[in-house]
Amino acid sequence: MLRPGVPGANGVARPGDTLILGLVEQYREALRLPQVQDRPDEFRRWLTEAREKAEGLETTLRPSGRRDVDRAAAEAAFQAAGAVCTHCHARYRDVPRRR
Ligand code: HEC
Repeated sequence: MLRPGVPGANGVARPGDTLILGLVEQYREALRLPQVQDRPDEFRRWLTEAREKAEGLETTLRPSGRRDVDRAAAEAAFQAAGAVCTHCHARYRDVPRRR
């Protein structure tokens, strides 16, 4: 469905492409790390969710078959992509290490 590295419909990369692709890629790579494989299921689920939200944001910023970005959709996707950061940090970063 997603084709990372493929520029926008008009053949020109849009602002934000590189940044969001970078985020999606970071999440993908993180999911492959052995340290992450050892984490609880929930952690990996949230990381997967975070990747999906980042992909969703990427999709809204790079609409196919249309020229204009749907600003409301992009804003909602941005909020959703940001919410997973906070969500996961509250549980797994901003607490004393439990291992
Ligand atoms: C699935 C869980 C998870 C998600 C999703 C996540 N993070 Fe994190 N993040 C962590 C954990 C755990 C650490 C602490 C890593 C460590 O100390 O080894 C961390 C550390 C960080 C740090 C380093 C600062 C520090 O406290 O050491 C930054 C910056 C950061 N995250 C930003 C983000 C942003 C921005 C997003 C969303 C776009 C995000 N993270 C999404 C779990 C997550």
